[in-house]
Parts: sequence; structure tokens; C-alpha cells
Amino acid sequence: MDMSLTILQDMSAPGNQNVENSSLKLKRLYYLEREMMRFMGGFLPEVATWSLKLLLPRHMWEDSLRAGQLRTRILEMRYPRKDVDKDHSPALQKLIQAISRCSNEREFIEGIYFAAKRNLCLAYEEYTAAIDPLDDAPTLEFIARFAPQIRDQILDMEQYYVQTYGELSQATNWQGIIQAYIDEIGGVFGSFESDNPIMEVLLNKPAYVIPEIPKRDPAFEQGVYMVYPQIPEKFVEKQVWFATIHANEMWAAEIAAQVLWEWDDMPWDFYMDCARWSYDETRHTAMGIRRLTSWGFTPGIDFPMVPEPFKALQGKSSLDKLALLHALELSAVGSKLDWIHIFETGGDSSTSQDIDFDWADESIHLLYGHKWVLHRLGGDLDLLEELKENALSYYEAWKSKVYPTWDYEPFKSRLSNRIQEIEKIQGVK
Ligand SMILES: [Fe+2]
Ligand SMILES: [Fe+2]
Repeated sequence: MDMSLTILQDMSAPGNQNVENSSLKLKRLYYLEREMMRFMGGFLPEVATWSLKLLLPRHMWEDSLRAGQLRTRILEMRYPRKDVDKDHSPALQKLIQAISRCSNEREFIEGIYFAAKRNLCLAYEEYTAAIDPLDDAPTLEFIARFAPQIRDQILDMEQYYVQTYGELSQATNWQGIIQAYIDEIGGVFGSFESDNPIMEVLLNKPAYVIPEIPKRDPAFEQGVYMVYPQIPEKFVEKQVWFATIHANEMWAAEIAAQVLWEWDDMPWDFYMDCARWSYDETRHTAMGIRRLTSWGFTPGIDFPMVPEPFKALQGKSSLDKLALLHALELSAVGSKLDWIHIFETGGDSSTSQDIDFDWADESIHLLYGHKWVLHRLGGDLDLLEELKENALSYYEAWKSKVYPTWDYEPFKSRLSNRIQEIEKIQGVK
């Protein structure tokens, strides 16, 4: 082509974006990512189905990373304005309120994943398709990856949904209600009003309440506490004992997730830290489950799954429970090296590797715990110490009350039978 013609064409290419509109679109995406992630955290204690509970925190953490990148870019584009965390779209605020009125796990999945996240993907694709790759290059660097990542999350959930409830086409009315609302407001970037009467009824439903004791899978048998009060003597028993504590760390994931939703007035870093904290504790849970299932044990059948600290601090505030997590992490971190040594010298490098990575996570959790419990206490270090001591003493008092009441059956017999089999295979006398 004639060079002068190319230049002429280029000069006439109309610009159809500007910083104000682009940053407002990113702000809508940020708001949805952040608020859905927060509600997923709040809903985690309500989830009973074990495979769903294990899946959600990873998605929450991924969502927090996307929200964090969007937030940073919005602040750049709107500098020196710092209105990224206020004046959000009323239509999207209503959407989050509606999604949070779901009545069960199935509606939760349909509202978040099959309605909102699918529309979020469309919005990312729309933004990416219209982007000027030169003018808005810093946004393009990350935003093109977001829709594929969310599609993977939706795929995870579609597989779970089909296994649990049947075909995707058998979705309940809930998915249709949420999708119809999104259509009425004109999608994620739309700002039409919706006067849908069904939505009004929905928004008048009572707000979601986090259960006092997080739910466990109905397939699990009831246990009173997690592990024997004393550390066992024999090596295989020690392996099982330690892995059972790991497998029960879901309680820690649940308290970090719960405050994501419950505390709606925290600085942004808090939400990023708690999403990561919750995901890490879910990984520690999965480490224990992986070891125990490899030895032939079934969660909740051969070993108990009990959200102990929630039982011990029943009726206390979320701040008390978060302070307990912080205090327990502080007290446990010193013994990790001893445990690594025990398992390494015993030939169980899988467990020692798990603890090694767990230990690395714990060093950041200690910072999170100190920073955010202190923040809730207005920076009062004396109060922080008092809160930690009190939380530990409630926990100890609960343990001394419940230990004498239960003989650890039927788990005790199941564990010892299998441990004897393992020892026979290993030739242990
Ligand atoms: Fe942990
Ligand atoms: Fe931790």
C-alpha cells in the first residue's frame, strides 16, 4: 500500500476510549471482583460439602489478586483522586446484595459462578477487544489474562455441579433471576435501573447470617475434638496424629474467610491478606488430607473433622477467634523445626516437606495476625496481649472440659486397626 495512504488512514482512526470512561469500567470490574470474593469468604462456613469447601478459597485468592491489580491501575489512571473504594454503581451494589440472599450451596454456585462470573468474563472480553494497545498498555498487560482465568474457575464449578446436581441445564430459578437482573441493568458496564418485582422481594429477604459453628460434611461422623490430648509415642501414630491436625486446619481458613465478609470497613490490604491466609490454611488442610488418604484413611470416617476453636469460643466475637488463630500460630511456629526433624529422620520426607512449606506460610500469617488484630484494637498493644491470652485460656478451658467426656470412638478403633496394618507392612515390631 502507498505509504502516504497508510498514514492518512492512521491519522483518521477515531479514538473511542478515554481515561475517565476506561477507569470507571475498571472500577466496576474491581467492585464486582472484590465483593464476590468477600461474599465467598462469608459463605465458606455455611458450605458443608467438603469438596466445595476445599475448592472455594483458591478461587477467592485468585479473585483478590485480580481485584488488587485492577485497584492499582485505577489509582494510577485517576491520580490524584483516591475514590477507588467509594461511590460504587448502585446497580452493582444491588446485584451483590441479591447474590448474597442465596439460600443454599446450589444457589450460591449458580448466582456467583453461572450468572455473575460468566458476565464478568464477557465484560473483560469487551474491555480487551476495545482497548487501544498503546494508550492503555499497562491495563492490557494483565486484563487479557483475566477472562481465561475466570473461565477455568467456572469450569471447576461446572464439573462439581454436574457431579452433584446433574446437568447444567437443570439450574434452579435462582440462576435465571440473577441473570435477568444483570440483563436488565445492561450487563456489568450497564447502568440502567431495574424495577423487577422479583428483585425487590429478594432484597427484602433477611440478610445472610454466618453460622456460629462452621458446617462440616453430612457424610462425616461426629467427633468432639480433633486429636488425642497427648502426642503419641510410635512413629506411625505420630504421622497420623500430625496429619489429622493439618487436615483440620479448615477452621483457620474459615475464620480468615469469615472476616472478609463480616468486616466491611477495612483497608484493601486486609482483604488481600485474608484471602491469601484463608487459601494457605486450606492448602494446609489439603496437605493433611493427602497424607491420610495415601495411608488409606477416609476424612470424617477414620479421623474426626471438628472446627474445635469455633466450639471453644462459641458466643465470642470474630475478633476473639482471629486473635486465637494468631496466638496459636505464634505458639506453634517454634515447634515446626522439631517436627521436620522427626519426620525427616523417620523417612517421611513427604510430611517434612509439607511442614517446611507450611512454615514458610506461617511466617507471613504472623504478620497478618499482628497487623490486623491490632488494627481492630486501634493499635493498643496491651489490649492485643490481653485478647490473645484470653482467647488461649477459653480454648484451654474448653479442652479440659471436653477431653474427659469422649473416648475418641469410633475413630480410635479404626485408626489403631489401620495403623497396625501399616506397621505390619513396614515390618515394625
Ligand atoms: Fe496452617
Ligand atoms: Fe497459618
